[in-house]
Amino acid sequence: MLQHTVRSLLKVDAFVDGNWIPSEQRFSVYNPATGETIAEVCDADPALAERAVEVAYKALPAWQAKTAKQRADLLRAWYQAIMVNKQVLGELMSSEQGKPIAEAIGEIEYGASFIDWFAGEAERHHGELLARSADDKRSWISKQPIGVCTAITPWNFPNAMITRKVAPALAAGCTIVVKPAQLTPLSALALMQLAAEAGIPHGVINMLPTSQAKAVGKVLTEHPNVRKFSFTGSTAIGKQLMAQCSSGMKKVSMELGGNAAFIIFDDADLDLAVEQLLAAKFRNAGQTCIAVNRVLVHDAVIAEVEQRLITALSKLKVGAGHEQGVDYGPLINQEAIDKAQLLQQQAIDAGAEVLCGGKVLQQLGPLFYAPTLLSNVTATMAISQQEIFAPILALQRFSSEAEAIALANDTPFGLAGYFCSNDYRRIGRVAEQLQCGMLGINVGIISQVYNAFAGIKESGIGIEGSSFGLAEYQVTKTITLGGFT
Ligand code: SIN
Repeated sequence: MLQHTVRSLLKVDAFVDGNWIPSEQRFSVYNPATGETIAEVCDADPALAERAVEVAYKALPAWQAKTAKQRADLLRAWYQAIMVNKQVLGELMSSEQGKPIAEAIGEIEYGASFIDWFAGEAERHHGELLARSADDKRSWISKQPIGVCTAITPWNFPNAMITRKVAPALAAGCTIVVKPAQLTPLSALALMQLAAEAGIPHGVINMLPTSQAKAVGKVLTEHPNVRKFSFTGSTAIGKQLMAQCSSGMKKVSMELGGNAAFIIFDDADLDLAVEQLLAAKFRNAGQTCIAVNRVLVHDAVIAEVEQRLITALSKLKVGAGHEQGVDYGPLINQEAIDKAQLLQQQAIDAGAEVLCGGKVLQQLGPLFYAPTLLSNVTATMAISQQEIFAPILALQRFSSEAEAIALANDTPFGLAGYFCSNDYRRIGRVAEQLQCGMLGINVGIISQVYNAFAGIKESGIGIEGSSFGLAEYQVTKTITLGGFT
């Protein structure tokens, strides 16, 4: 396996049919910590997107004809290439996305774990022999690759959200075309270099960096040769893309927005609750779709929780991703800062109070937001209803278990939820009633390859990771064989 440098993994062209495709038209990628331009990247247009889908269609028969073991071996070679280069991949990611290098390397390992896992799933998957209905017939169910897949992935996890889609697609025997986020294409392109070195055949994975999201997205969702589309991003965009897919009745996976509540009951271990709340909130500076959006705290412990949080937040270190010991980095762009400030101001105007933070840390740069604690937040404020995607903890109070559950469920979203309690009867009751696809009880970090990453309500359709993830890229065919004597 080649050991790369950041320079040798810095790829700036589109990757189609195993070739790097340059273009006259390019867009800039910035380091959010410094504002510096890191690269000028090929701006793939809809014509190149069409070509990529056709290439993926041509590559499909040979890829699906490989044995499961052959596909698994190639996926494992890709996994190894990524793991050998995790340090440089982490540095590259940190420079375009802003997260601390240690966290970025953690994402590289998380991303690679999907490739390793689905290599195994490629070999484990099986159909089903059905009960005999007559002496002269046999029926069975065969699981087959769905065909050409396309995906649009977000900037908050520039590596793992790609591998979580590409790995099951490839394991199932599908080929794929991906549009990475305009803000973070470099991590995606570096993955392509390593896939090529691992021997993944030409045309099986294709990567289209672009600033023309709408036009390229139209091709990826409407091209007649595409059978499956997978998206991670906002619910609003997910709805539009799903509507586009409906014209060709394409199978979709939608991993969309959330509005996670983190409930602290009066019987909770407060040391643990505060520690896990910080983990769930400040990962990636609050820019995850499973980040805590609303903190619901019982009346009896809210004063104590506020004090503990003020102390804990004062110890967080904010800075550029390459600095030692940084807890979180800059937000991704000015739009993210503007949104955080607007939600915070609207909350203050409606009666919320800033207990700490609440401002841009200008001495670090325009995109660094202070760890912020708001109290007296209510359910009707915009900050309780929209994804904050920033390091702001918004505390609401409640006085009974029923009220906490009602508040937590009072949202069209249902991605993640969290609560802290030491009462096993309450744990059983509350776990059953919270409306979310993923639940952390006394824990704030819930993502790992074996878990089913899936939202309910308007947070999405379909499952990523886990033993369910492969089926998203398969079709079920029932075959009946007659003529037995
Ligand atoms: C996301 O925020 O989109 C994904 C988070 C995760 O996989 O943990």
